[in-house]
Amino acid sequence: MIDQASKAFFHRLARSSRLKTLASRYGMKQPESFARRFIAGETIDEAIQAARQIEGKGLLHTLDYLGESVGSLEEADAVSREYLRIMDVIVGAGIGRNISLKLTQLGLDLDRARARDHLRRILDHADGFFVRVDMENSPYTAVTLDTVRTLWEQGYRQIGVVLQADLKRSEQDVKEIAALGMRVRLVKGAYLEPAAVAYTHKADVDAAYRRMLEHLLTCGHYPAIATHDTRMIAHTIRVAETHAIARDRFEFQMLYGIRRDMQEQLVRDGYQVRVYIPFGREWFPYFMRRLGERPANLAFVLRGMIGEGLTTS
Ligand code: 2OP
Repeated sequence: MIDQASKAFFHRLARSSRLKTLASRYGMKQPESFARRFIAGETIDEAIQAARQIEGKGLLHTLDYLGESVGSLEEADAVSREYLRIMDVIVGAGIGRNISLKLTQLGLDLDRARARDHLRRILDHADGFFVRVDMENSPYTAVTLDTVRTLWEQGYRQIGVVLQADLKRSEQDVKEIAALGMRVRLVKGAYLEPAAVAYTHKADVDAAYRRMLEHLLTCGHYPAIATHDTRMIAHTIRVAETHAIARDRFEFQMLYGIRRDMQEQLVRDGYQVRVYIPFGREWFPYFMRRLGERPANLAFVLRGMIGEGLTTS
């Protein structure tokens, strides 16, 4: 229940445009500013730099050009063009080719067909890339799954989706998507959801997460187990060992700036770990979700802000 209260609190704060303006002004200004713990920077160059450091430690990455719920078709068109440019920069930099994006960033709210066309254009451009379509809150679950499924049926194979264990429908979805052969990233779910569609108790979310990861490891195609929860990681390792699933048949995923110790330890233990590297100017909603989902994240930020206050005063 604490989880729900914390999500609800930060969800409300995330809607404040004054807070957004204020945070956006100060959060990334200096190398030690408070949002930098979770956001690699506002530019693609900063994201590439972070990706190189991460690769240097033997970790994989996916780059997410932040943005969601754009307000106009022109903005969606611009985002889609920007993604093409970002892919060219990634290729030029010679780093791993893996991106994550959100459909409402491509205008899903405004024109579904056009958002799907944008995604298709990105996939057509994405030579050697894997493109992960992030999952957003529950009003978008069905349309996101329909969109990726349509593209899959049209022959696009370098696309994957995300399923959230807190949604009651996800256990059925995981079976269907795994049966298609599409890659799934399994997460607990960072969005505030109504009790009608989501489990509200942590124990129920955890139990669903365990069942889903078991299904993905045994019947899925190269699943991404995306969690910072040590118990879920230990369970994944146990299931993989029980079923003799090799360490290159799945990967762990974690977010930039969170549990860096564990990310590196897993790599030392021979597992694959992919770090989700967010960048761009539209970092506020992403940042607020991080604060709402894990008390330790809020503690980092508060410590950072106090530190900054002390050093600048
Ligand atoms: C989010 O944007 C990580 O996709 C996830 O919160």
